[in-house]
Amino acid sequence: MKQRQLLKDGTKVSEIGLGCLSFAGFYGPTSEATSHATLSAALDLGIDFLDTANVYGMGKSEATIGSFLKGNADKFTIATKAGIGRDPNTGERGFNNKPDYLRGELEKSLKRLGLDHVSLYYIHRRDPDLEIEAVMETLLAFKAEGKIGGIGFSEISPASLRRAASVGPVDAVQSEYSLWTRTADLGMVQTCAELDVAFVPFSPVGRGIFGTKTPDPSQFEDTDFRKANPRFVEPNFSYNAEKVKGFKAYAADLGTKPITLSLAWCLARGDHLIPIPGTRSADHLAECAAASDFQMTDAIMAEIEQTLPVGWAHGDRYTRTQWHGVENFC
Ligand SMILES: NC(=O)c1ccc[n+]([C@@H]2O[C@H](COP(=O)([O-])OP(=O)(O)OC[C@H]3O[C@@H](n4cnc5c(N)ncnc54)[C@H](OP(=O)(O)O)[C@@H]3O)[C@@H](O)[C@H]2O)c1
Repeated sequence: MKQRQLLKDGTKVSEIGLGCLSFAGFYGPTSEATSHATLSAALDLGIDFLDTANVYGMGKSEATIGSFLKGNADKFTIATKAGIGRDPNTGERGFNNKPDYLRGELEKSLKRLGLDHVSLYYIHRRDPDLEIEAVMETLLAFKAEGKIGGIGFSEISPASLRRAASVGPVDAVQSEYSLWTRTADLGMVQTCAELDVAFVPFSPVGRGIFGTKTPDPSQFEDTDFRKANPRFVEPNFSYNAEKVKGFKAYAADLGTKPITLSLAWCLARGDHLIPIPGTRSADHLAECAAASDFQMTDAIMAEIEQTLPVGWAHGDRYTRTQWHGVENFC
C-alpha cells in the first residue's frame, strides 16, 4: 500500500483510506464484530487512515472505532467531523459551527474514540451564520491546544477554501468525487493542488454502483441511504445500472475488479487525492486496497473516460433536502 501526504506537517497515510460511515448501518445492517473484522483487515492491508464523524449513527461509528482502538490507537490516522446538528425542538437538520458547539462535539468524539487527539478535524458542513475565517480561528485554537493535528472542510467551494487558507493552514478538503460525481473537477481538485491541500474523495465507489454485483434497490432497507437517492430510483437506476456494465466488462478484460479500477482512476486524477471507500466487509476492502497496486496508464484512463464520460449518470447525487448545506460552485 503506497502512502500520500495528508497533513501539511508531513503526516502521510495509506493512499486508500477506510470510510467508517457504514459501521452505523448506513448501507445495510452490520455489527460491531463485523466492523472490527473490517478494521483488522484494514491493518493487514496497510490501510491506516480512518474517516468518521460525530453524526454517523449519532456516535456509533466513532464508538465502534474506539472499542477497536484499545492497543491499536497508534496504528491509525483518524479524521472526524462536526458541524451538522439537529434543532433540539424540531429535530430538523441544521448546521452549527459555533466555538462552544464544536468544542463540545470534539470532546464527545474524543471520548467515544478513547483518544485525547484526532489527526484531522473537519467542518462537516458550513454554518451559514458564520464567516469561514471565524471558524478557522476556532479550529486553530483546537490545534494550538493539541486536540487536533490538522484542519479540514467538507463540501465547501474553492472560493471558501481560499478564504480559509488565508487565515491559516488548511490540510484537507473532503467532497463527493467518483466516476459518476465529477463536480470537483470544476475547480476544487485544482485549487487543492495549488494550495497543497489534500483532496479526500468521499463516496468514491459511487455508493456501491461500481461493485462487481450491482446493488439491487428492491433489497434496500428503509434506513439505507440509497433508498431515496435519485440515482438509485427509477427510471434513473435502470439506466445507470446498464451504463456501468461496459465499465465492469472493461475491468474484467483488464483482469481486475470494477471497484479496484474505479479507485485506481481516482488515484490517477492527482497525487493529492486520498479516496476513502466505505465498506462493512473485509473482502470488499481488499478489492479497494488493490487499487494501490494497479498499474494505471494513459490509455486505460482514456478508455474509462470514453466508457463513462463526465456527466454520464442519470439523477442527482442528492435529494433536495440533502443538498442543503453543500456549497455549490460553477
Ligand atoms: N463528508 C461527507 O459529507 C460524507 C458523505 C458521505 C460519506 N462520507 C465518507 O466517505 C466514506 C465513503 O463513502 P460512502 O460509504 O458514502 O460511499 P462509497 O464508499 O462510495 O460506497 C459505499 C458502498 O459501496 C459498497 N462497496 C464498497 N466496496 C465494495 C466492493 N469491493 N464491492 C462491492 N461493493 C462495495 C459498500 O457495500 P458493502 O458494505 O457491502 O461493502 C457500500 O454499499 C464514508 O464511509 C464516510 O466516511 C463523507
